[in-house]
Amino acid sequence: MNHELLKGKRGIIFGALNELSLAWAVAEQCYQEGAQIVLTNTPLATRLGKVTTLAKKLNAPYIEADATSVEDLKKLFSESQKQLGGKIDFVLHAVAMSMNIRRGNDYPHLNYSYYNKTLDISALSFHKMLQVAYETDAIAEYGSVVALTYIAAERAIAYYNDMADAKALLQSITRNFGLAYGQKRHVRINTVSQSPTPTKAGGSIEFFDRFYEISNRTAPLGNASQQDCADFCVMLFSDYTRKVTMQNLYHDGGFSTTGVQMPE
Ligand SMILES: NC(=O)c1ccc[n+]([C@@H]2O[C@H](COP(=O)([O-])OP(=O)(O)OC[C@H]3O[C@@H](n4cnc5c(N)ncnc54)[C@H](O)[C@@H]3O)[C@@H](O)[C@H]2O)c1
Repeated sequence: MNHELLKGKRGIIFGALNELSLAWAVAEQCYQEGAQIVLTNTPLATRLGKVTTLAKKLNAPYIEADATSVEDLKKLFSESQKQLGGKIDFVLHAVAMSMNIRRGNDYPHLNYSYYNKTLDISALSFHKMLQVAYETDAIAEYGSVVALTYIAAERAIAYYNDMADAKALLQSITRNFGLAYGQKRHVRINTVSQSPTPTKAGGSIEFFDRFYEISNRTAPLGNASQQDCADFCVMLFSDYTRKVTMQNLYHDGGFSTTGVQMPE
């Protein structure tokens, strides 16, 4: 599909690691729709992932940045504007990591040093990137910023662990920064609450297959796929959603509002 919805727009995409990453499909779709993008990820992701292959394919500059480092974020925003030739129209935050999940520490037994890291990488990084953009006036009027979240921010979901707290914080930052940035520059800030999707981060959650299956069965439309997520993000980056801001938008085939479902 190509409707040139993003023709002439400049974007920064965080979090494309490999072909399964949600950010990977978003980057490809933004490119298809006519945007020029910068890809960014950590030095570790450069070594272990395939982001540089994607950068070549999409003719996109790749700039390394740790999303928890304000220093790195300053360089990223200033370099991106230089390379793309103007202010940034859209940003995707698709960044998350929990050492507690990786190490199998369940919620009653969290390691607090890992917990702080989870919050820093998966939520505070969003505040940091917005603060850098706000202070340096890096995002264009009516620009659009999207972060990816999950329904565990509002409902207790077994095994989602400390990432649930990070997502709740991410959604609160969205509302509060949305207010400030909306007033300053009409910049839109939203979260997309995506269905479980088989990716590296998703797959590291215990019993991910069960999560996936249960929500796929419950949602009347079934789970939203990686490509569905890309299409939805493009719409949010486009000029068709100029008055949508400070929202958590469920993109889950109806899972979030289904109560009891009867077999057909
Ligand atoms: N996969 C799912 O089921 C699902 C569902 C809802 C929301 N999400 C969210 O989507 C986003 C993208 O995750 P994904 O599922 O595509 O997995 P992924 O593993 O492909 O992406 C996670 C990315 O975060 C990056 N990252 C980790 N630490 C970083 C740091 N310090 N600085 C910059 N980048 C860093 C990784 O390198 C990786 O590219 C995450 O926020 C995740 O929570 C995923």
